Amino acid sequence: MKVLVVGAGTMGHGIAEVVAIAGNQVYLSDISKDILNSAVDKIKWSLSRLYEKGQLRESPEDILSRIKLVVGLNEEVKDAELSIEAVPEKLELKRQVFSRLEELLPRDAILATNTSSLPITEIAYAVKDRRRVIGTHFFNPPVLMQLVEIVRGKDTSDDTVKKTYDFIVKINKKPILVNKDVPGFVVNRVLLRIITTACMLVEKGIADHKTIDAVARYKLGLPMGIFELVDYTGVDVNYYVSSAMIERGFKAYYCKTLEEMTKKGELGVKSGKGFYTYPDNKYVKVNLPKELADKLDPLYLIAPAINEAYWMIREGVASKEDIDIGVKLGLNFPKGISDYERELGRDNIKRALEELKRISNGGEEYNTYL
Ligand SMILES: NC(=O)c1ccc[n+]([C@@H]2O[C@H](COP(=O)([O-])OP(=O)(O)OC[C@H]3O[C@@H](n4cnc5c(N)ncnc54)[C@H](O)[C@@H]3O)[C@@H](O)[C@H]2O)c1
Repeated sequence: MKVLVVGAGTMGHGIAEVVAIAGNQVYLSDISKDILNSAVDKIKWSLSRLYEKGQLRESPEDILSRIKLVVGLNEEVKDAELSIEAVPEKLELKRQVFSRLEELLPRDAILATNTSSLPITEIAYAVKDRRRVIGTHFFNPPVLMQLVEIVRGKDTSDDTVKKTYDFIVKINKKPILVNKDVPGFVVNRVLLRIITTACMLVEKGIADHKTIDAVARYKLGLPMGIFELVDYTGVDVNYYVSSAMIERGFKAYYCKTLEEMTKKGELGVKSGKGFYTYPDNKYVKVNLPKELADKLDPLYLIAPAINEAYWMIREGVASKEDIDIGVKLGLNFPKGISDYERELGRDNIKRALEELKRISNGGEEYNTYL
């Protein structure tokens, strides 16, 4: 296939690499030659590492020869059958790009966006035929992360969903279907349930952040503590994503701590200080004493995630199977939400939700859907 990737930043260059590795022709577009050259350097570096590890069937040169660099969006890309937009997370900018894509590409080309928080439906308003607009939410870094959330906007056609799904399988990624354009799609909804609850428990004085992180790591088996993960991905990123989701109707505890830390510049690993400190602004695994994990019931953290999964299934957002795949591949959970549910027991989960509702002074987000 001929695939256009718009934006050659953190995500775009990785998506272009993945698409080219799978044998497709790629147009990689950005606003300047310098940005494109730097993207190619990163792709070259990544391809050579994959090649050394024996993970490529072709030479890096052959794969690179399929990536054509394009400054701006012009006639050069007009035979692309699919485009994946990965420009910054600004609705107006994305709309401008989509409107230009509609002018340039064939009428049946699929127009996908890699947005992580904007509604697909609102981006689609920029084009006349909204049936061909869809979300393809890759995870960072796209070369290593298997998961792609395929998000259906209000007007996306079945045909667009099917073709996009098949394409994602062909580029050796694992798609899950998000059938409704809800804030946070599947993976971020589950994650934000846990993060906002963790924050609520700290702000209400029930546990400190180290206790929560010890519980997450040692009792739930998560790869990182919750606050450690927030530091890793950026306190500011978590603040902006959660605020945007709440603004768009995601009912969750508003974490003041994230706002205050963002304003103070305590952004986590990248600023050297967040919930923990990181010498030289580099991530180091946080030292968490095991005994702390006995100080809080793990149900307090995982019950809201299980409840969220139930809400999504009830509303037809995603299937149980896809939610399980999403948390395993998108968040590196050791098991799916349904495994946690089975192990912990429905009644206990419901009791934990009631308790969380009480602690949060009646937070609606703890209404049970089980
Ligand atoms: N970074 C992540 O971890 C991550 C993960 C999943 C999804 N996303 C989403 O992917 C998208 C891109 O994020 P990113 O982190 O790669 O951003 P980025 O800032 O690293 O890259 C964006 C690129 O788009 C280019 N650009 C801007 N306007 C353009 C235009 N009109 N035409 C072509 N290129 C243009 C910029 O020059 C830049 O190189 C966003 O929607 C973001 O929410 C990001």
